Amino acid sequence: MTDTISQDRVLIFDTTLRDGEQSPGATMTHEEKLEIAEMLDDMGVDIIEAGFPIASEGDFRAVSEISQRSKDAVICGLARANFKDIDRCWEAVKQSARPRIHTFIGTSPLHRQIPDLTQDEMADRIHETVTHARNLCDNVQWSPMDATRTEWDYLCRVIEIAIKAGATTINIPDTVGYTAPEESANLIRRLIETVPGADEVVFATHCHNDLGMATANALAAVAGGARQIECTINGLGERAGNTALEEVVMALKVRHDIMPWSTAVDTTKIMGISRRVATVSGFPVQFNKAIVGKNAFAHESGIHQDGMLKNPENFEIMRPADVGLSESSLPLGKHSGRAALRDKLNNLGFDVGDNQLKDIFVRFKDLADRKKEVFDDDIIALMRVGEDGENDRLKLKSLRVTCGTGGPAEARIVMEIDGAEKTATMSGDGPVDASFRAVRDLHPSDAHLQLYQVHAVTEGTDAQATVSVRLEEGGNIATGQSADTDTVVASTKAYIHALNRLLVRRGKLGEDQKEISYRDMS
Ligand code: KIV
Ligand code: ZN
Repeated sequence: MTDTISQDRVLIFDTTLRDGEQSPGATMTHEEKLEIAEMLDDMGVDIIEAGFPIASEGDFRAVSEISQRSKDAVICGLARANFKDIDRCWEAVKQSARPRIHTFIGTSPLHRQIPDLTQDEMADRIHETVTHARNLCDNVQWSPMDATRTEWDYLCRVIEIAIKAGATTINIPDTVGYTAPEESANLIRRLIETVPGADEVVFATHCHNDLGMATANALAAVAGGARQIECTINGLGERAGNTALEEVVMALKVRHDIMPWSTAVDTTKIMGISRRVATVSGFPVQFNKAIVGKNAFAHESGIHQDGMLKNPENFEIMRPADVGLSESSLPLGKHSGRAALRDKLNNLGFDVGDNQLKDIFVRFKDLADRKKEVFDDDIIALMRVGEDGENDRLKLKSLRVTCGTGGPAEARIVMEIDGAEKTATMSGDGPVDASFRAVRDLHPSDAHLQLYQVHAVTEGTDAQATVSVRLEEGGNIATGQSADTDTVVASTKAYIHALNRLLVRRGKLGEDQKEISYRDMS
């Protein structure tokens, strides 16, 4: 199926599960990928780039299963410019009702050196591989990686070859986040004017955010004639990330007067998926992030609050409900029942099944016993943690810590490891250090602590702390999270959560043998 779209429609191509997931530390489990894909499909994303099938057995399985389950979205897989990658990609996406193969090669002078091809050799490779992809699938996207640093004449030449070979979408990646809005618009406009056959394909824009211009560059590309924006939820992605889906979609909606293009995205689903992606990727959303940040709709200063009460339009250009944020934030308490919790979760943008509600209700009751009022942010924190549970090999049973002046902190920990209960007591430089040492005493690990982050969810000394721990071991990265009114308990649980994820990842790599990155062109 090729894409025929009206000129005022912009296709949204989400690559959270490919470009986003490949960023170090953002690895998602198989089930999490299926869940995110379903949410993207439900919210009206046009194309979901579900993964890079040749990269590993796990990636292949995820793309295949997402393809089988897909409803309305086109399901796309990534492939480098060789037959083996393309065949593997087709095997995975062909089970979708609307499959797409996305094949690419780096065309800039620097990127051409990676496979060590001359301009002519690369041109031949593009012709052969796009033709091969098109023989398998009638929806083929081709990308000249690092397009924004590719010589103009060569860029035009290779795009023309790809179009003649049957590509239906031409994506122009700003791989290193180098371009600027005016340049981005001009590049697309000139390509469409210059390259023969350009009016028969869809031009796409794929921007990275290294200079903080990814959203502006993507919107400028649309003004120049692009009709597909590649983006990720929360702007997830390598280095500074990709164009954020929520930003381009809301910009097109709010400023339709000057950007008269529309998308099919149901914007009320934005907050729900943003929170879910933050949880499963382990990448928290910065407080002042546009659209989905905790403070995006908060009006703290006296003068703003006064203005807001008189007329919300004084300081708000969009309504919280437009992005799926509830307007009421009445706290729950220990007498609140399951229905009230479900209602609150729905208002916060979480769509939970009965089993998940049962699990979250137990944790909500536990929290409400310790905390008088349970605020929206407490509920969000509860939803962000406690994902794994039953199949974990390492479990925390109890923790007692002594700390204060006059000596080192001491932690006594009881853990269940592969079903057997074990106890350790260790001292350390403060209660968190002592607890982590006690964990390591029972489960020796060389994992290097890359990140340890603590946030108070609400105000007050009984506030919950959410803790993120990122560990690295032999090139594998795993993030663990937890929340508790006791910071040391939250930290220890987050540490154990990350260790469990490393164990899963180690097992998965054993099965997969080798993981390839799409940057690895050999
Ligand atoms: O940034 C990039 O160039 C990519 C390509 C694979 C499209 O992600
Ligand atoms: Zn990219």
